[in-house]
Amino acid sequence: MAYSTLLLRSILTFCLFSISFVQAYDRRACQAPTRNPLSGCPVGTLLVGLGQKFTSVQSAVLSLGNTTNPATILILPGNYTEQVNVTRQGPLTLLGQTSSPNDASYNVVNIIWHNATGTATTGTYDNAYTSVLTVAPTFNASTTGSGPTGNPVPPGTPFGNLDFRTYNLNFINDYLPYSAGPSLAVSVSYANTGFYYTQFLSYQDTVYIGKLGSAYMYSCIVGGQTDFVYGFGTLWVTESEIQLRGCGGGITAWKGTNTTFENKYGAYIYKSHVAKANSTLNITHECALGRPWNAQHRSIFALSYLDDSIQPNGYIEWSSSDPRVNFNTTMAEFHDFGPGFNLTAREAASNVTIEMTPKEYAPYSTPALVFQYPFSGAFGNVAWIDEYPRA
Ligand SMILES: *[C@@H]1O[C@H](CO)[C@@H](O)[C@H](O)[C@H]1NC(C)=O
Ligand SMILES: *[C@@H]1O[C@H](CO)[C@@H](O)[C@H](O)[C@H]1NC(C)=O
Ligand SMILES: *[C@@H]1O[C@H](CO)[C@@H](O)[C@H](O)[C@H]1NC(C)=O
Ligand SMILES: *[C@@H]1O[C@H](CO)[C@@H](O)[C@H](O)[C@H]1NC(C)=O
Ligand SMILES: *[C@@H]1O[C@H](CO)[C@@H](O)[C@H](O)[C@H]1NC(C)=O
Ligand SMILES: *[C@@H]1O[C@H](CO)[C@@H](O)[C@H](O)[C@H]1NC(C)=O
Ligand SMILES: *[C@@H]1O[C@H](CO)[C@@H](O)[C@H](O)[C@H]1NC(C)=O
Ligand SMILES: *[C@@H]1O[C@H](CO)[C@@H](O)[C@H](O)[C@H]1NC(C)=O
Ligand SMILES: *[C@@H]1O[C@H](CO)[C@@H](O)[C@H](O)[C@H]1NC(C)=O
Ligand SMILES: *[C@@H]1O[C@H](CO)[C@@H](O)[C@H](O)[C@H]1NC(C)=O
Ligand SMILES: *[C@@H]1O[C@H](CO)[C@@H](O)[C@H](O)[C@H]1NC(C)=O
Repeated sequence: MAYSTLLLRSILTFCLFSISFVQAYDRRACQAPTRNPLSGCPVGTLLVGLGQKFTSVQSAVLSLGNTTNPATILILPGNYTEQVNVTRQGPLTLLGQTSSPNDASYNVVNIIWHNATGTATTGTYDNAYTSVLTVAPTFNASTTGSGPTGNPVPPGTPFGNLDFRTYNLNFINDYLPYSAGPSLAVSVSYANTGFYYTQFLSYQDTVYIGKLGSAYMYSCIVGGQTDFVYGFGTLWVTESEIQLRGCGGGITAWKGTNTTFENKYGAYIYKSHVAKANSTLNITHECALGRPWNAQHRSIFALSYLDDSIQPNGYIEWSSSDPRVNFNTTMAEFHDFGPGFNLTAREAASNVTIEMTPKEYAPYSTPALVFQYPFSGAFGNVAWIDEYPRA
């Protein structure tokens, strides 16, 4: 990138931070491994690490209390075996220490949990119990439930975090190294969440964006096998890697909701790279882009590279006995490319896979067009997004 562009970007970044909730700071300096780990961080940043006052992320989060004050937590390299639950409304940023703040593949902070549900060996409890990270105001707001509308969130449940962010962290649910029931790495409901240079790894139901959940992922790595991007809310994934660790169900499985206002709840995979996790996987033409968790599923893979793991037909039905496909099902693509994109085969599967025209895609083409304010449904809920995340 030209120096002048970089300069312009830093000026823009500075302006943006100055007017947003979150205190302006130099992210690279704060995250750099230095003698005083907190140098360059916002005043009041909490430090988590071995031998520090806080040795778990959750203890630092709980110490903040349920206030609306913005807060930042810096986490030293290591493996933290814990679940992290964030219920507070106040803006919160979690940073992993790193000397490569613009590359998720070098992250050295792992937050690890091992749990799954829904099989004979695990027993059956809500998917919410399994997640490594949960951002939701209450436990009930975070539950998945079952049936076309899922678990009802009790009326009057307040909105949770207004501006939650992570940079350079890995959230790993390593229950078993293959699909063995839902095992969430992240669960977001009734909250606005931005994930930057962050990894989410498990095999099944890895990323859950639940009711009134809004999530933006930039330069992230999402790894999974079965229905591993699922939910009710709105997810925008941009310039990220979707890593296929096997095939099962589909990549996406969304449940649409009837609302009194127009909604665009769904999963939007934009300018990303969808490919097998490594070359030893033998999954040529086996993975589906998605399948409808209910008939109002909405997902769009746009302008993305698809490797040869993707099925020629693109999307699939839920199952042959219960297809869940009707005229309200939006299983779509726009200008995808790569060996996993076969236009002839996609056209033959037009009853499941929609190739959008520019006009059809236009209403879904930016985050501001799809992210909605909770409760009112007004579009343009994007002030919590870090538009210039590079450090
Ligand atoms: C946190 O504070 C908000 C706003 O005051 C409130 O609605 C919510 O119930 C509180 N949550 C908890 C867990 O106390
Ligand atoms: C930390 O976790 C990673 C990922 O699960 C693992 O590969 C690594 O061996 C662990 N390191 C230690 C020191 O336990
Ligand atoms: C998962 O977590 C739930 C709730 O804490 C617990 O009851 C269950 O035993 C755990 N399951 C596994 C497989 O560890
Ligand atoms: C996080 O939430 C889950 C689900 O409610 C619960 O099982 C777990 O104990 C919570 N963990 C922490 C650290 O609060
Ligand atoms: C959570 O939901 C369950 C079942 O849906 C309900 O019985 C319970 O009262 C709810 N808890 C709260 C605190 O709303
Ligand atoms: C390739 O990825 C699969 C799925 O995650 C994993 O089981 C396997 O160990 C990986 N192989 C190599 C050589 O990394
Ligand atoms: C939404 O409304 C349509 C039309 O009434 C109905 O067929 C569908 O089942 C409803 N979906 C949900 C998730 O409630
Ligand atoms: C890959 O899988 C296919 C179908 O399952 C099988 O026919 C083929 O032998 C496998 N190739 C390798 C190299 O394992
Ligand atoms: C889509 O078309 C295929 C092949 O013609 C057919 O087997 C399948 O049942 C159709 N699915 C739906 C949901 O109409
Ligand atoms: C289903 O599609 C029809 C026709 O496009 C539209 O009028 C209706 O609002 C849709 N219903 C839902 C629940 O999305
Ligand atoms: C694309 O799909 C068509 C129809 O299924 C098939 O005949 C053709 O061989 C495929 N092309 C490639 C390059 O795989």
